[in-house]
Amino acid sequence: MNAPSSSVLDAVRSRLSVRAFLPEPVPPSLIRELLVQAARAPSGGNVQPWHIDVLAGEALAAFRQRMRERLAPGAEPEEPAYEIYPAALPEPWRSRRFRIGEALYARLRIPREDKAARLRWFANNFDFFGAPLALMCSVDRRMGPPQWSDLGMFLQTLMLLLRERGLDSCAQECWALYPRTVAGFLQWPGDRMIFCGMAIGRRDAAHPVNGLQSERAPLQEWARFHGC
Ligand SMILES: Cc1cc2nc3c(=O)[nH]c(=O)nc-3n(C[C@H](O)[C@H](O)[C@H](O)COP(=O)(O)O)c2cc1C
Repeated sequence: MNAPSSSVLDAVRSRLSVRAFLPEPVPPSLIRELLVQAARAPSGGNVQPWHIDVLAGEALAAFRQRMRERLAPGAEPEEPAYEIYPAALPEPWRSRRFRIGEALYARLRIPREDKAARLRWFANNFDFFGAPLALMCSVDRRMGPPQWSDLGMFLQTLMLLLRERGLDSCAQECWALYPRTVAGFLQWPGDRMIFCGMAIGRRDAAHPVNGLQSERAPLQEWARFHGC
């Protein structure tokens, strides 16, 4: 479903993580408008803890270049901003994570043994999958889990609004692996930390990766009904 959505349900159903984009630019005025609308997302105490940096045009090109240098062979990794998953992810979450990874690489026809090819594909994250526009979402370090959940609500609201305008996105927590490079480039104050990036643009419908349909666990695995 690539056409713009015309209802919330339609937007929810047609949103997926897009990992190959067309080069068509996204008008900056449209992103400004959608960010203002997304900020109608609720937040505990109306704290609105999100900070958003938008990257496009020359700034995005310069950032891409910085990342290419950062990822050059032999470069040292950075201390991640946070643990993206718990160190030993228990079941059933571990299997869910494994399955989506395998499904992704199956679509790309990259076998499990070909670690180098899997890593090369993963590195596309750091090119925002070719998207013409990107966001970095950050938060004050003093904020805790409730405010981080507010960030999620903001981001999902934005991703649905993007669908309404026929645009696509991929949230990217992989950027937490390069917090110093991101914060340095964007000149963040020291009390700011990255949550995630987001690639934004129009999906390349012909690319096999965008045909990936992620599964969802059935309702009975995660919901209980009391008195109803
Ligand atoms: C906060 C957040 C961070 C994510 N980070 C990445 C990422 O770094 N790279 C990536 O390819 N996908 C990333 N994803 C996409 C998830 O893998 C995806 O949402 C999940 O597999 C479900 O698929 P769907 O979005 O297509 O429904 C992220 C999603 C969220 C919500």
